Parts: sequence; C-alpha cells; structure tokens
Amino acid sequence: MTLILGIESSCDETAVALVRGDRSIVAQAVASQDADHRPFGGVVPELAARAHVEALTPMIERVLRDGGVRLADVDAIAATAGPGLIGGVMVGLVTAKALCLAAHKPLLAVNHLEGHALSPRLVDAELEFPYLLLLVSGGHCQLLAVEGVGRYRRLATTIDDAVGEAFDKTAKILGLGFPGGPAVERAAREGDARAVPLPRPMVGWPEPHFSFAGLKSAVLRAHATGNYGIPDLAASFQAAAVDCLVDRTQRALRSMPEAKALVVAGGVASNGIVRTALAGLAATHGTRFVAPPPWLCTDNAAMIAWAGAERLALGLVDGLDAPARPRWPL
Ligand code: KG4
Ligand code: ZN
Repeated sequence: MTLILGIESSCDETAVALVRGDRSIVAQAVASQDADHRPFGGVVPELAARAHVEALTPMIERVLRDGGVRLADVDAIAATAGPGLIGGVMVGLVTAKALCLAAHKPLLAVNHLEGHALSPRLVDAELEFPYLLLLVSGGHCQLLAVEGVGRYRRLATTIDDAVGEAFDKTAKILGLGFPGGPAVERAAREGDARAVPLPRPMVGWPEPHFSFAGLKSAVLRAHATGNYGIPDLAASFQAAAVDCLVDRTQRALRSMPEAKALVVAGGVASNGIVRTALAGLAATHGTRFVAPPPWLCTDNAAMIAWAGAERLALGLVDGLDAPARPRWPL
C-alpha cells in the first residue's frame, strides 16, 4: 500500500504525517506556534517561517521513528506549495525537495486548499464526487463544487473578509486573545445569541457570495456602546456568522442537485455551532452531511499527505522545480 510523507507549513502550524493509500494514518505530529504569536495578537510571518525552520526537520525524524518507517519506505513526499505565508511555504517545500533528491522519491506539490477540500475523503471512504464543499478557514470562505481530484468549480467566494478572519477580528475587538476562533466559541457558550442585534450581510441575496466586513464593524460599534457583555457579543456574532454560512450554502445546494453530500472543511469547520447548523441544513435538504473531525479541520499534514496520495494515484507528480506560491486559487 502506498505510503506518503506529508508536510504542512503554510501558516502557524508545523505539521508532518505519514498516511497510507488505504486511509490509515501511520504517525503524525502538529506543533502550534500560538505562544510565539500571542504577544502580537496575530500571526507574524517572519516569526512563523523561522519557527518552521527550527521545528520541521526534527519533527520529520520523530514521525518517521514513531511510524517505524525509514525514508526509503516512503513512496512519495507531499508538501504544501501554497497558498499561504510564503516564508513558511518555502521552508516546507524546499525541505520536501531536498528529501526527494536525497531518497530518490517523487514530489507532490500540494495546494493547501486542495488538502482541505479532499480531507473528508481521508476519514470517509464512502464520500464520492461530486460534493458541495463549504471551505471556511482563516484566509478563505468559498463554496466549491468538488467534481474530482483537481476538478474544482468555485460557486461563491467572499467579497471582503474570510469568515475565520471575522472570528479572529471579533476576538481581538472583544479582547478574547489569540487564536480567535476557539476563544469566540468558548465565550459564546456563556452568552445569549439574541442579545445584540447584528446584520446578516448578503442573506437572501440572489448573488451567491459572502461578506463579513460589515458584520465585524457592527460588532465593533455594538461593543463601543458599552451596553453589552462580552459573552452576549460573542454569541450574537457567532449566530450571525452561522446564519450567513447557512443561507449561502442553502442557495448553492439548490443550484447543485447532483451533489452527493454537503461537506464542510477548514479551521472554522471545527466550530460546534457551525457543524450543527450545517448538519440541520443538510437534513432539511435530504442530503448527506460530512464534516471531518475537528483536528482534521484545522491545519495538519495528514490532509496534505492524503491529497498527495489522491494525486499520486492519478500519476499527478511534480518536478523538483515546482514553485512556491503565495496565491494559488483552486
Ligand atoms: O484552516 P485553518 O487552520 O488555517 C487556514 O488555512 O487559514 O483555519 C484557521 C481559522 C482561523 O481564522 C481560526 O480562528 C478559525 O479557523 N477557527 C475557528 C475555530 N477554530 C479555528 N473559528 C471558529 N470556531 C472555532 N472553534
Ligand atoms: Zn488551512
């Protein structure tokens, strides 16, 4: 059975995984850089790149050891080649190239978004193409018709902020710290989602796209009045964001009757309220719902290794001259 070594370093997680073509995860590790970036209230690209330089190679050594595997046993090496913070992408991609050169292995230069898009198939062998994917992360908010490996049709995108970015900015406004998404979700548990009247940008619009900048500004204004508590603001923001996601996704579901499932992936897909709301939407629609486990929603290398395995099975290998791309739409 094919064995892929996967490397992820496009943002603030250094991650390495060994994944087999039969979907078994042989070994994996994720090192978060939260502590490095917390004092700055957000990810500092240069600090991220330098932390990847320190963490990545010892982590590869450890994951190989944990898996009882030598580099010679691996069939190919997959690394995120973009999109993302370019310093970190370069660390991961160049490391993968060097290992490929030394061990005579093929390189798989994986699009990080494709990693998220195919991640549900790593844990659900029954998930077939085509499916409707809501991809919600810190940098992206898209609805994609996933028609096959390498075949993605974008149905909608955000006209301003990504939804993860809105969570992060809201956390900053409310003084909830970094990273923002999980902090907002935690604070919201103590709050009333109907306490603060907030807009639902784009809801009901015939146009398919998302918008979150106005919602974030509304949170800022509501907070400035001093009339609302932090948990109520967090809960009301989260409810508004979820309403937007559900409305836009419902519209896309209607336009894609051939979809075999509604799938959600990306960091925001680890949010419990988001998952429950989308599961409800799929049920109403009579469509199957698939959400990867939370650890597979946030950045990790198992999804990169798996996307590599899917590409290798189709013979889609890359040359050692593969570029590192800060921007790389699916
Ligand atoms: O996919 P990901 O780990 O990295 C990117 O590719 O961007 O997504 C990170 C984003 C961040 O904006 C983070 O705040 C958000 O996902 N996030 C969450 C939760 N966990 C992570 N947002 C809402 N609720 C969560 N529990
Ligand atoms: Zn991601």
